Amino acid sequence: MTQREQWTTRAGFILATLGSAIGLGNVWRFSYVAGENGGGAFLLVYLAAVVVVGVPLLLAELALGRHTQGDVVQAFQEAAPRSPIRFLGIVAVFGSSLILSYYAVVAGWTLRYLLDYAIALLGAPPAESAAVRFERFIAHPVEPVAWQLLFLALTAAVVIAGIRRGIESANRIILPLLGVTVLALAAYSITLPGSGAGVRFLLAPDWSAVAEPRMYLAALGQAFFSLGIGMGVLTTYGGYLGRRHRLPMAAFAIAGGDALFALTAGLAIFPAVFAFGLEPAQGPVLAFVVLPQVFASMPGGALFGAAFFLLLATAALTSAISLLEVPVAYVVRRCGIARRRATLLVAVAIFLAGLPSALGYGPLSQVQVFGRAVLDAVDQLVSDFVLPLGGIAIAILVGWLWGKQTALQSSDLGIGAIAGAWLFTLRFVVPAVILIILLRSSGIL
Ligand code: TRP
Repeated sequence: MTQREQWTTRAGFILATLGSAIGLGNVWRFSYVAGENGGGAFLLVYLAAVVVVGVPLLLAELALGRHTQGDVVQAFQEAAPRSPIRFLGIVAVFGSSLILSYYAVVAGWTLRYLLDYAIALLGAPPAESAAVRFERFIAHPVEPVAWQLLFLALTAAVVIAGIRRGIESANRIILPLLGVTVLALAAYSITLPGSGAGVRFLLAPDWSAVAEPRMYLAALGQAFFSLGIGMGVLTTYGGYLGRRHRLPMAAFAIAGGDALFALTAGLAIFPAVFAFGLEPAQGPVLAFVVLPQVFASMPGGALFGAAFFLLLATAALTSAISLLEVPVAYVVRRCGIARRRATLLVAVAIFLAGLPSALGYGPLSQVQVFGRAVLDAVDQLVSDFVLPLGGIAIAILVGWLWGKQTALQSSDLGIGAIAGAWLFTLRFVVPAVILIILLRSSGIL
């Protein structure tokens, strides 16, 4: 057995976990789900979910991973050797693969935009608007698949390179740059004439939305998705962590950074939605229809557009890497094969699983699941059920089954009021909140 790799520095680890958290979820998913769920009230519930459910689970996943130093299946087995919950690790392996299957499709869309703006920079700007070209692009029978494949190939390449060389160094460069770009974009968006309605949409709660049980489930699911919790991604990352890192600080930094990022992206998108007279509730294509209009109205928009999509595609890459690492770490250990082989095998399976999502706006547009396109429906299934149920499993595993002493020690909380509050939240608050929201939105409660 060779020794498992570890993160080089503390900052490198925090950046890698932030890189897992920050991605399409903050820009693409946050804006489309907030747009569908009424804006301001959704934002409040989403932020509450991040604090109450997100931070405790984040810490639980990291502690579990660092203690067991293995993949998610192994971690579940070690933490609860006698409970049936130990078998749920494998569900997380399939769950994160399912998420990556359509995540790669949307990430492919960003690559396609990148090329578009790069070409516009080089010479003749195209006759049609970027939004029109996008509609044609996602309806095409081959193109979305080609970009999905390219993105997955890039992801696999980084995962093959391994923890230090691959994952860590990629994040160090991208995240600060992306932060500055989104901030600049928000500043520009707010100054557009007619943008005030968008700022109000995002920040001022519309109290009629508060009575809507679906909105709570959407906000909860978005908190899970954006933080990247519920699927053992951070357990797997925690497995590459030495003892000298302080986990509670890391959990706060990740949650705070991620939420701030989503909020800024919202301020870049919604003012523009209203300034250009667009519809906020148009589903997963929202950001891809709005942003081109912003760039088209900007001086130097092609350059900014190219920079923005380059950074967004890379942020998506650092999230996709974390999703791919979950099944790969498992297959490497379980089947005893080399990292490269395992990565290629898993990536091919994920590519195939994502095909219906990639084709769902074109050749497969006849196929509607619950009245939605395939990608849309899979995304909703993940956010409404897979992630919340994964969250309950981890809360029970760490809160009840793992053993109080081990849990408190592994989380670096030790003993004291904060430690007690954390354990109490994991044991009671997290499962109760998730269950109530699930039952209410399905009309049972
Ligand atoms: N958080 C990432 C994003 O916002 C996506 C992601 C990474 C994820 N790891 C995850 C989503 C684990 C769910 C579960 O883009």
